[in-house]
Amino acid sequence: MDQRVAIVTGGCGNLGRGVCRALSKDGYTVVAFDVDTSRAEGVARAVTLDVTDAAACTAAVDAVVRDFGGIDVLVNMAQRIIIQTPLLELTAEHMRVSFESGPMAALRMIQLCHPHMQARGGGAIINFASDAGTRGIPGMGAYSAAKEAIRGITKVASLELGRDNIRTNTLCPVAFSDPTSSWAQRSLAENPMGRVGDPEQDIGGAVVFLAGPVFVNGRTIHVDGGTGVFR
Ligand SMILES: NC(=O)c1ccc[n+]([C@@H]2O[C@H](COP(=O)([O-])OP(=O)(O)OC[C@H]3O[C@@H](n4cnc5c(N)ncnc54)[C@H](O)[C@@H]3O)[C@@H](O)[C@H]2O)c1
Repeated sequence: MDQRVAIVTGGCGNLGRGVCRALSKDGYTVVAFDVDTSRAEGVARAVTLDVTDAAACTAAVDAVVRDFGGIDVLVNMAQRIIIQTPLLELTAEHMRVSFESGPMAALRMIQLCHPHMQARGGGAIINFASDAGTRGIPGMGAYSAAKEAIRGITKVASLELGRDNIRTNTLCPVAFSDPTSSWAQRSLAENPMGRVGDPEQDIGGAVVFLAGPVFVNGRTIHVDGGTGVFR
């Protein structure tokens, strides 16, 4: 196969841009799907779309297959992130926004990409979750729940799609495009490696590994320098 094709949802975000650059440097033709494509980097195409829009996703996936010949890798990174909302104040709207942009969109993208990966004889799906889910973080209840739903989808996908040589894994990152930001500095303080994760080298590097023909399926990989408590 001469041209390997990867779709990255949320591919124009802080980590998404690094992931797109890393996949591109590894030889993939990379297509980013994002509501805001103004900061796209390392992509053959940036598609402005809302992953909660089923018709737009279908049309965009069809266009990728038509123009680039197929799909080998799907990276689900798009997520609306709700912070600083205590559990007792969470509304149905908070939950809807979190779940529609995260796990429901990830599931839709898996369903849309699956036949094209099957036609290629296999593929890789990398779903982004969070230590906010695996350990729980106060004020992030809707986000934590949505991210754990993504891990559930990953586990079932790994069991149901493994026969098609499609490997599905969850990646929980800790990395920052601006290492001087207050979030990055807080993360640095608790990082055993004494540095902040880099979107391209650390997160993109792990995505490139999981995108390859590795015997890893259904796992949650924390790429955080050892910060989290999940072992
Ligand atoms: N940065 C971290 O350390 C960290 C930690 C844990 C988990 N994560 C996860 O990693 C992924 C990337 O995080 P990030 O830091 O780059 O966040 P980010 O907010 O910079 O990027 C998310 C991207 O998703 C896009 N997006 C949001 N809703 C969308 C929608 N409905 N349709 C299409 N695009 C949409 C945004 O425009 C943005 O470009 C997310 O899933 C996030 O939850 C990040």
